[in-house]
Amino acid sequence: MPTSAREPLLEVRDLAAGYGKIGVLHGVQLTVGAGEAVALLGPNGAGKTTLLRAISGLLPRTGQIRFAGKDMSSAGPRDAVSAGLVHVVEGHRVFTQLTVFDNLLLAGYGMPRAARARQVEEALAFFPEIAEKRRNLAATLSGGQQQMLAVAQGLVRRPRLLMLDEPSAGLSPVLVDRVLLAAAKLREAGTAILLVEQLIEKALATADRVYALARGTIVLEARTDEADLPNRLEQAYFGQGAHAPLQS
Ligand SMILES: Nc1ncnc2c1ncn2[C@@H]1O[C@H](COP(=O)(O)OP(=O)(O)O)[C@@H](O)[C@H]1O
Ligand SMILES: [Mg+2]
Repeated sequence: MPTSAREPLLEVRDLAAGYGKIGVLHGVQLTVGAGEAVALLGPNGAGKTTLLRAISGLLPRTGQIRFAGKDMSSAGPRDAVSAGLVHVVEGHRVFTQLTVFDNLLLAGYGMPRAARARQVEEALAFFPEIAEKRRNLAATLSGGQQQMLAVAQGLVRRPRLLMLDEPSAGLSPVLVDRVLLAAAKLREAGTAILLVEQLIEKALATADRVYALARGTIVLEARTDEADLPNRLEQAYFGQGAHAPLQS
């Protein structure tokens, strides 16, 4: 069935997943519209990484996942990627013994040559700082630059939805801004984003909508321009009656 104008790009319903007998996620409902930027927040151990892994087919799960008008409930990671759903995993995983350029070519493995070359350039254009270092080994990049390379790798296939798992982890504030700016530019170019982030205020500034996950389930969904959002988030993180101020 084709995607209708009203159908979200990604629709997750009643999703459950875990590791072996350990249940982590239950009853998760989440949508991302075409071209929308959505933040997924929540305390450590809430299940954010598990949720991204379940959506991209890296983990077995139950429930329904529709993406771009197709049922992807039992799709594997390759099916997800070919449908346009790309997951940049937690921790910048790049091949340090390959050049920046070769890391990007590898991300486009199997694509027609001309399209791959074009899209590698397109991905690099988002990150002038690493474009300059295209002939250098990825090992010579700073942590922030490696993270940008990991995001750029996610772009080579021109995804319809890019899921970023804590892209700013371990980066200095300046580099965090640069990575999030790249996410904002992508979004302007029409790519939908699902962003897992520990820096709450920065995530909210980047996103149109936000979900909070706690103990494996969605406890809040809101637009990021909602006036009462700080209070609602605080309750979502700490439960009713919490008084600890939110850090970001
Ligand atoms: N490979 C694994 N095997 C078993 N349990 C895991 C594994 N990875 C994560 N978990 C558990 O699943 C829960 C959610 O983890 P995770 O999805 O990484 O949370 P978050 O990304 O929100 O910090 C935690 O209790 C964590 O200990
Ligand atoms: Mg995580």
